[in-house]
Amino acid sequence: MMLELQNIHTFYGLSHILFDVSLTVKQGQIVCLLGRNGAGKTTTLKSIMGIAPPKRGKILFKGEVVSGKAPYILCRKGIGYVPDDRRIFADLTVYENLEIALRKREGRQQWDIPRVFELFPSLQKFSGRKGGLLSGGEQKMLAIARALVGNPECLLLDEPTEGLAPAMVAVFRDRIRLLKESGLTVLLAEQNVKFTLSLSEYAYIIDDGRICHQGTVAEIQENEAIRTMCGI
Ligand SMILES: Nc1ncnc2c1ncn2[C@@H]1O[C@H](COP(=O)(O)OP(=O)(O)OP(=O)(O)O)[C@@H](O)[C@H]1O
Ligand SMILES: [Mg+2]
Repeated sequence: MMLELQNIHTFYGLSHILFDVSLTVKQGQIVCLLGRNGAGKTTTLKSIMGIAPPKRGKILFKGEVVSGKAPYILCRKGIGYVPDDRRIFADLTVYENLEIALRKREGRQQWDIPRVFELFPSLQKFSGRKGGLLSGGEQKMLAIARALVGNPECLLLDEPTEGLAPAMVAVFRDRIRLLKESGLTVLLAEQNVKFTLSLSEYAYIIDDGRICHQGTVAEIQENEAIRTMCGI
């Protein structure tokens, strides 16, 4: 088991946002977390990353309890995070954005700058351009590339397809598939059921801060009643 959430409850101040959320991601899997706007997808990823730590419940990474640990510790332990708002450094070039995130790890296949340039050739083309001048899609590529050069074992990806044109969505689908083939484990938060269908076998649906269904993505795609109930 790579990642395990056991009955977590997360609050922002006094607002109770996540209720008893449990999910598991096995090594090498792409598991997705589907849900409408405001359902709690981002909050779940922030809970895992220690940005919005849960008040109750446990989070385990490779069998070790990590809930309550600071984000930089989780990053060091091998969890990579690609936030939905990308958070790239606007005044640094593409290359510099990657350079500051580089982190070598012992005994594993390494992601480095040449390798992420191979994955996203447009980043190589614009390697001297300031991050803030990139298009939305290019910034998403840079955010993923930046997480990869930190050499995570498990990647948390928040809505990679949001706001992308269909042709670009296809590019991201392709690339995420390559990441899976390279052995990376991924927890993918998405609203786009069709996009996740071709990438992942298993999905959790979250609604109103609660997991309302779990099953194969194909089953969810076919079952309109489930999708209507959970608003996706
Ligand atoms: N910093 C915050 N303070 C208070 N409430 C928040 C905060 N961030 C999010 N919320 C609330 O928590 C709930 C879950 O939000 P979250 O961002 O996790 O949803 P989401 O599923 O990621 O939605 P989207 O698809 O729009 O990104 C929403 O009701 C939202 O208004
Ligand atoms: Mg979100």
